[in-house]
Amino acid sequence: MGQELKLLLSACLVITSAVAGAEYVRPPPRRTLDFPWSPRRPSSPQQVHVSLAGKKHMRISWVTDDKSAPSHVTYGKSPGRHDFAVEGLSTSYSYLLYKSGKIHHVVIGPLEYDMVYFYKCGGEDPEFQLKTPPAELPVTFSIAGDLGQTGWTKSTLDHINKCDYDVHLLPGDLAYADYMQHWWDTFGNLVQPLASARPWMVTEGNHEQEFIPLVMDGFVSYNARWKMPYKESGSSSNLYYSFEVAGVHVVMLGSYTDFDMYSNQYRWLMKDLSKVNRQKTPWLVASFHVPWYNSNFAHQREGEEMMATLEPLLYAAGVDIVLAGHVHAYERAKRVYNGKLDPCGPVHITIGDGGNREGLAHRYHDPQPEWSAFREASFGHGELEFVNSSHAFWSWHRNDDDEPMRSDHAWISSLGSSGCLAGKRRELWKVLVAPRST
Ligand SMILES: [Fe+2]
Repeated sequence: MGQELKLLLSACLVITSAVAGAEYVRPPPRRTLDFPWSPRRPSSPQQVHVSLAGKKHMRISWVTDDKSAPSHVTYGKSPGRHDFAVEGLSTSYSYLLYKSGKIHHVVIGPLEYDMVYFYKCGGEDPEFQLKTPPAELPVTFSIAGDLGQTGWTKSTLDHINKCDYDVHLLPGDLAYADYMQHWWDTFGNLVQPLASARPWMVTEGNHEQEFIPLVMDGFVSYNARWKMPYKESGSSSNLYYSFEVAGVHVVMLGSYTDFDMYSNQYRWLMKDLSKVNRQKTPWLVASFHVPWYNSNFAHQREGEEMMATLEPLLYAAGVDIVLAGHVHAYERAKRVYNGKLDPCGPVHITIGDGGNREGLAHRYHDPQPEWSAFREASFGHGELEFVNSSHAFWSWHRNDDDEPMRSDHAWISSLGSSGCLAGKRRELWKVLVAPRST
């Protein structure tokens, strides 16, 4: 190649780089990870994860190949010294030809706040450790939906692991098992290093359904493996529940179960929201899978029906922030209600960008809607620190060539601090009463 041609190509590359530098070059999907078989004892705990289970309690969940392995947890505040022992329950399920291992669920507590505990499952090594959330603000959530189990998922998990978070929130689409039940097992092992150390609070997405008409009910695997505190929060279904941590009340809703005005979910949600004490929990957060405010072409308007029914209720209750997934991209909305900017509406955030095998949702509607503050089709995760009763700091971290790069951030003021809640009490009352008078 002649010297002149080389110089010309170099100049072209510089120009191309300068143009590309204006916009992040989005990475392609990464392949599903290989999980080599590793020998272990049948009674060894696998897929260990923990979740909040009512005030001062946490649920430890794990799986064993050994169907006679005991469902008990020993734990204490020092390594190797377990002063407490608790017996729990177990379950298992069959899905076509697949038979699950023994799935154990043990609730431990009462636990001290902001404390590291060391624990063993079924008396077997290894010893795990978890940290309980603080009693009061500040508290930090990490958030990533639509995780899957690809190279990008691993990148996202590595970044979350570097973040000093108290609770992980996953707004649906966990394993992308999609009827292949062993993928639930590999997903459980992939997230174990993080999910065994901090509470992981999840709600269901479409990939959890695995419904086969006349053959298999929906959510069989999800409900057996990822048991959430629904009974503790007065719900009759694992598909919707609430929890409180520090000064934050979180309602985890179901996009794939009934939500009409006469549904159990709607009735439970009315009851749950009416019990929220904003003196005790000044922040109110809602999370579900299908976003209501979405300017991406992907899954456009899929959330409309749920939005029509539940948006007035969340608005009247004074929900501060809504976190959704489903669209494989990131979008942060301004405070919005009924399609219009509203200083007393929630901030809606779509964060279905955990890294699954289906790749990113690249195409957006133009022009960008007035309510949309920031949107980008890249993998990543969010961090939400509730600093005090009036201010929270949101940041979104793109997986930039495997390095986490903070690419969007915003301070969010609570509705309680902006005078929005007083009138909302009356609106909530109207919404609660309306269905009964029709
Ligand atoms: Fe989804």
